[in-house]
Amino acid sequence: MIKEIFENVYIVDDKLATKSTVKGKKVYDEKIIKLDNEEYRVWNPYKSKLAAAILKGLKTLPIKRNSKILYLGASAGTTPSHVADIADKGIVYAVEYSPRIMREMLDACEGRKNIIPILGDANKPQEYSDIEMVDVIYEDVAQPNQAEILIKNAKWFLKKDGYAMIAIKARSIDVTKDPKEIFKEQKNILENSGFKVLEEIDIEPYEKDHIMFVCKWIRDY
Ligand SMILES: C[S@@+](CC[C@H](N)C(=O)[O-])C[C@H]1O[C@@H](n2cnc3c(N)ncnc32)[C@H](O)[C@@H]1O
Repeated sequence: MIKEIFENVYIVDDKLATKSTVKGKKVYDEKIIKLDNEEYRVWNPYKSKLAAAILKGLKTLPIKRNSKILYLGASAGTTPSHVADIADKGIVYAVEYSPRIMREMLDACEGRKNIIPILGDANKPQEYSDIEMVDVIYEDVAQPNQAEILIKNAKWFLKKDGYAMIAIKARSIDVTKDPKEIFKEQKNILENSGFKVLEEIDIEPYEKDHIMFVCKWIRDY
C-alpha cells in the first residue's frame, strides 16, 4: 500500500518514506522498501524533526518538488537527504559549520546531486552570499539565538512570500524556563521581524521540549 501525502512524501506500508533519488544507497540506518521498481527510504521521526512534525499533523509542507531550499544545520545529512528526495527537481543549499560533521554529510549524501554543501556559520550569511534566493529556509541548529539566525538568513536569501520551518529546542535557549514561555517568546521575535507563524507543532514524543514553527515571510520592502 502506498499513498502520497505531500509532493514526493509517501506512506508506504504504514511507514513515512521518501522515494530515493539514489537507488541502492542508504544515508543512515534507514530501512529501504522496494516497490514497483522504486526504492522508498523509511523516514524515522526519532531521527528527523521534520518527519516528526509530519507525523504530528503538519498541514502545509512548503518543501516541494521544485523548491530551492536553504538548510541551516545540515549535520550528517539525515533530514537533508529526505529533503533532497522531496525537492528532486530543486536544490538544497546545506549549511553546516563543523568540518568533521560536514565530512560525514559528504559521504552520506554522495550521489545526491541536488545537495550543495556549504561549510559555513549560519550566523554569518555574508560568508555564503553567492547563493541564489530561495523558496524555503529550514533551520535546525540548536543554538540560543535560533530565531535571530533565521531572520538574518531570511533577510539575505528568502523570497518574498517564501516559507521557513524552524525547529526550536527550548533547552538550547534557557534550561530553567518553562518551554511554553520560550516558544511564545521565540514566536514573538519571529512575528516582530517579518514572519507570520502559520503552524506550531509540538513534536513530542519524538523530541522532548521542541516545537516546529512553519512561517511565511510577509515582510515588505
Ligand atoms: C540538531 S543538529 C541538526 C540535525 C539535522 N537537521 C537533521 O535533522 O539531520 C544541529 C546541527 O547544527 C549545526 N550548527 C549549530 N550551529 C550552527 C551554525 N551557527 N552554523 C551552521 N551549523 C550549525 C551543528 O554542528 C549540528 O550539526
